Amino acid sequence: MLQRSGNGGGYDWDELVQPDRVHRLIYADPEIFQRELTHVFGAVWVYLAHESQIPNNNDFITGKLGLRPIIICRDNDGKVRALYNRCTHRGTTLCRWEKGNSRSFQCPYHGWSYLNNGRIRGVPWPDGYAVDFRDPKFNLAQVPRVESYRGFIFGTLNMDAPSLANYLGPIRKPMDEWIDRNPGGKIVVCEANRLKFKGNWKLAYDNSADGYHVIYSHRSLIETEARFNDGEKGMSYYKNSPDKLAMYVAYTGNGHHYKDKRPNLQKRDGGLWAIESFHPGMEHVAEKLRAQLGARAEAVLDYAGSEPMNINVFPNLSLLGNHIQVIEPVSVDETNAVWYGTKIEDVDGTIGDDVLREINTLRMRTQEGFPNLGEVDDITNFEQIQRGLACLEDEWIYMNRGMDMPERFRTDDEGVIYGPATDEVFMREYIMKWKRLMQSEPQLTVQREP
Ligand code: FES
Ligand SMILES: [Fe+2]
Repeated sequence: MLQRSGNGGGYDWDELVQPDRVHRLIYADPEIFQRELTHVFGAVWVYLAHESQIPNNNDFITGKLGLRPIIICRDNDGKVRALYNRCTHRGTTLCRWEKGNSRSFQCPYHGWSYLNNGRIRGVPWPDGYAVDFRDPKFNLAQVPRVESYRGFIFGTLNMDAPSLANYLGPIRKPMDEWIDRNPGGKIVVCEANRLKFKGNWKLAYDNSADGYHVIYSHRSLIETEARFNDGEKGMSYYKNSPDKLAMYVAYTGNGHHYKDKRPNLQKRDGGLWAIESFHPGMEHVAEKLRAQLGARAEAVLDYAGSEPMNINVFPNLSLLGNHIQVIEPVSVDETNAVWYGTKIEDVDGTIGDDVLREINTLRMRTQEGFPNLGEVDDITNFEQIQRGLACLEDEWIYMNRGMDMPERFRTDDEGVIYGPATDEVFMREYIMKWKRLMQSEPQLTVQREP
């Protein structure tokens, strides 16, 4: 059995992550998980929130950077910040609300208060202190680099990380397309469907563009959908030979990848809505909109449909259908999978308030398709993998589908690798990126207002 040896963290990372397989410990060892919190969730750009969740000055939401509790806010001057949600006095979390609007935060323990730019504002009975509270060490720690890409806010503790745009690189193209299919290229993030599973966070990321499992793991969902629309609903296109279809997976670098199922669809107004999973009442609403809007209805209904793309931004963000999934590590064998709904806006006044409300309701209810009926299949697999990993002597997990078969792949000028939908090439590439991160020695830093 694999034993610990000399370098970084006590493991030989090249032994744990090999070209065709990975060791069970990368999912099961608490010390490897601890190292990920700095070497992955501190060292690269991590998705924190969407700007539409904090549209106004002094809006805030609470979230996490790895396990670090943080407050993502738009301060009184409009600057987006990620404050450590940790009182500088004795370390308790400062803000215990999910979201709100406030120019300052007061600690529930002893009442120290802070402005939303992180500066300390005051402490109760200051005459009991011989210190100068203007010393920056009393200001809240904050994530030193916070940047947005088209509304998606990311942060990193690594001053040596590239710019966010460089980090994202070619994954920006499918992200742009996913965003731009909505009126004015705009989405508004809504409330979330919150799931959790007893498994390592990477099991979700491994699976995020896996086209190999679909027809087996999601059989009951596909069969349910197949009772409607001549069997052409949802992901039914997987049912024959998925690698022969026009859909594909692409690995774009830095751990990011996507599966693009759009080429399987008929390009016509209403083509997307036609394959949308059924939920009770949707036909009634669709018929009403058709009666009201005539020929325009199909294009408008497509706004409610689930865009057939899985776009995965390493390490914690997926754009799936019309949802945003955030992977939140909790412990080595516990993870939250949070599915945010998204709304559209009537940016140029052509949709109208009533229709917009109906479309956004239909859009929200697509949670009743894959996120509720498919994600539970996936989560069951993740939990059962974690159980299987308790077989200590059976050490290896294979990611070798398509390996040593160069005829299955194509690499473009930007280095993006394209392969058939069931291929594990993206898994092998992203886990190599993970290995390089775990081998590196990033310098992490926090910032405090002066
Ligand atoms: S821990 Fe926050 S005021 Fe004491
Ligand atoms: Fe799945």
